[in-house]
This record gives sequence, structure tokens and C-alpha cells, in this order.
Amino acid sequence: MNPRVNPSVARPVVSQRAGITIRRTGVNLGAEISGVDLRHPLPDAQFAAIEAALVENELIIFRDQDITSEALMAFGRRFGELTVHPFAPNEGKNAPELIKFRNDETTPPFGTDVWHSDETFRAEPPMATILRATDELPAVGGDTMFASMSAAYDGLSDRMQQYISGLHAIHDMKPFRPLFGQSLEDRKKLQQFELMYPPQLHPVVRIHPVSGRKVLFVNPQFTLAIDGMEERESRALLDTLFHQALIPEYQFRHRWEPHTIAMWDNRSTQHYAVHDYYPQRRYMERVTIKGGPVTGVPRADPASVRRAKYVAPEGVDTHGGHKPH
Ligand SMILES: [Fe+2]
Repeated sequence: MNPRVNPSVARPVVSQRAGITIRRTGVNLGAEISGVDLRHPLPDAQFAAIEAALVENELIIFRDQDITSEALMAFGRRFGELTVHPFAPNEGKNAPELIKFRNDETTPPFGTDVWHSDETFRAEPPMATILRATDELPAVGGDTMFASMSAAYDGLSDRMQQYISGLHAIHDMKPFRPLFGQSLEDRKKLQQFELMYPPQLHPVVRIHPVSGRKVLFVNPQFTLAIDGMEERESRALLDTLFHQALIPEYQFRHRWEPHTIAMWDNRSTQHYAVHDYYPQRRYMERVTIKGGPVTGVPRADPASVRRAKYVAPEGVDTHGGHKPH
């Protein structure tokens, strides 16, 4: 890991805006928000504070919010249009935007125990996702892991940052193919989905449209390859980049309690739903907010690459006291 002084360490842990309290819970991402009641429409000032907190903290958590599915959808719509997931189980015609994850002894969890940001197989992946825990939760297990992909980008060496700037990767709906069987009807259906959701090229380094931070934007669930590289080169580079989400310093482990709501900025984070609770029950609801175009960084000009993003202040030993003998 590339040692750099983390700017978020200098921020206050607790801040207050528009009557709500924001308590930072992780160094690189994560904050708990209290003093709001999501059963009712939020005053504009509180909503603005939450929207800003989402970008700043990348993951925001609300505890003890015993709200209805309708209130969850209404809260999501404050941020933008809700999207319909083409493959996830939803509420049907009445509320196709409401995804219901109902995992229990008859329905093991499927396919979310891989690091990813949501739906990057789309041309415009979602800007954010909101996940609500009901009161049916495992007694132990079923946590969700998150990783700050802006911190993961910052932690790459200058050489690697320069190398991946301007590259594009191919994202594909591959994890959903096993949902289709081998019957002729199923194969036709799959073909239709493949036409609706063709592979997409996204920049490997994207710029967050609000914060302006650079974000590492490849994930092992949807990213197939780096565009324009030999397969072996692409695999080696992707292995290195996928590994960034596995580094504990960039992660936050979220423990669910009944009526907890988590909202993540899907432009700057990845997550992994830990599948350690089967056959216990875990009933969750999710809404997803439409995103915009993904903007990348240009290919770096070696002559203008800066030497170091964060320079350690005078007197700070970035090698943890270790000295060569
Ligand atoms: Fe997800």
C-alpha cells in the first residue's frame, strides 16, 4: 500500500447540518446520520445536507428507520429517477423499482458475494443505491462490506495512476447469464437481454461528477477486460486493480440491525454482501437511483504527472519507524 496522508483524518468526526448529526464511522468511507425521520418527506435543507453527506462520506447509514416500502421509494425519488433492475426480483407491476431480496432456507443468496458497484453493465450505471433491512435478519452474519474506490485509486503508485489514466474497460451482464436455462425459449430470452444490454466501455479511472475525485472504476463482477490490450496483459492488470478493493484500509464493514438503511454512492464505492448466514433469513428491500454518463480522465502526459498527491507534513515518518539496516 502506498503510504499517503489521508485528508479525511483531519476532518471532524461529528458534524451537524440542518439539525441532523453526521458521525463519521470509517476513515475512508462511512458515516451514520441521526436526527432524521425517513417516514415523512424531508425538509429541503435536511435533504441537501444528506445529499452532500453522501458524496463526502460515500456511504451513509441511518439506524432505527422503521419505514414502509412506499416511504423508501419516496426517499429515493428525492435523489432522482428510480430505475428497474432487469434481472433482480422485484415487487412486480405495482412497483417494479422496488427490489426484494428474500433469502432464507429455501432461497440461498445469489451472486452478490463478489466485489462490484451496481449495474456497471449499463451505459449509465446508477448514481446511488439504497438498501433497507426489515426486521427479518440473521442473528449473526449477513454484513455488507464496502470499499472506497477513490481511496483505492489514491493508494495506487503514481506510476500505476499514470499508466491506467485514459484506459477503458469492457463491462458485461455476465453474472446474470446463469439465470437463463438451456431451453429454446430461455435462450431466446437471453438473446433479447443481450441486445438490450450490450457490453459497455467505461473509463478505468472516472471522475466523480460532484466531488471531482478520481475513482478506480473496474470490478470483478462486471468487468471483462481492458480495451485494446492482449488478454494476458489485461488479466494481469485487472487482477492488480481488483485487488485494491480487498485492502482493509479502504474498506468498511457494515453490520445490519432491524430497520437500518444504508445508502452508497455507487460512483465512488464497491460492495460485497457477505454470504455467511444461510440458512438464516435476511429480508431486504432496495431502490436504485439513475446515474449519468461516466466521465474518465485523459491519458496522462508523462511530462506533467505530479510527483506525489499527498505530501507527508514535516516530521511525519511515512515508513512507520522502519529504517533500512
Ligand atoms: Fe450490489
